[in-house]
Amino acid sequence: MASAPAKVILFGEHAVVYGRPAIAVPVHSLHADVEATPSPAGAGVRIAASDLGRTVDLRDAPEDDPLALAARLTLDALHAAPPDVTLTIRSNIPVASNLGSGAAVSAALARALAAALGAELDDARLSALVYEVEKLHHGTPSGIDNTVVVYGQPVYFVRDQEPELFAIRRPFTLAIADTGIASPTRVAVGDVRALHARDPDFTTPRFDAIGAIAHTARFAIATRRVATLGPLMNQNHALLCELTVSCAELDALVAAAREAGALGAKLSGGGRGGNMIALAEGVDRDRLKRALCEAGAVRVIFTEVR
Ligand code: MEV
Repeated sequence: MASAPAKVILFGEHAVVYGRPAIAVPVHSLHADVEATPSPAGAGVRIAASDLGRTVDLRDAPEDDPLALAARLTLDALHAAPPDVTLTIRSNIPVASNLGSGAAVSAALARALAAALGAELDDARLSALVYEVEKLHHGTPSGIDNTVVVYGQPVYFVRDQEPELFAIRRPFTLAIADTGIASPTRVAVGDVRALHARDPDFTTPRFDAIGAIAHTARFAIATRRVATLGPLMNQNHALLCELTVSCAELDALVAAAREAGALGAKLSGGGRGGNMIALAEGVDRDRLKRALCEAGAVRVIFTEVR
């Protein structure tokens, strides 16, 4: 049995694709789990995605199947022949909701297959492997999702640099509210790329401002000034709106969270749907949850960032 957690991006999504820093944290209450069980001799590797209602036989899976790619890359990395094993995936991470479901499934699958071979992939290799699968999911990923999901720790991330894993000295609570709108990251990332190609004078200062917010937030977290994260979240959300990656449903949840007393709120991840996060420190949780549901959230969870 192997697993990997979901993630949320606290600060810096989209700008991180263009080299600005970003911060992501794992959400341990949501996770993908993969169980490896022996199969009869000659059966090869079978991947049963019970939640998605499909089974993949590695021998005839297409090249661009993400589950098969994760398994093939694992076998390549370990120089191993396919064992006779069934890998059963179970995940409580909502799909296409910007919580890193794809990366978590890939990471857990690779870990389970490696364990079935009596081997282990270290985190750096596993993260690189999951990154390759992420490219199928969303074209030009920055690498932040695979990093946070594999290491399972808060990360200050700059593309093409060693990830900086850090400890949260003063834990804080986030509300994560789902619009219920499935939103593939690929689309939002592609639209920002098109906007940037068309009008770099518009996008570049916004990327810079988002990067500066992530940098300031890193310092605020290090110095335990949690309350200052609220206004930074609000500023980050405004900039993401300008980059066109919010939507009416996300904006409604962000407004409701602020009205119900959250210190700040923003969309998290690719945007255009999926989830928003709100800083739920010193807030009446029931009131916040009610306000978010009334504003359209289909699910609200609270998670402690530590
Ligand atoms: C997705 O979780 C975060 C984005 O910045 C894309 C990426 O970093 O690859 C939108």
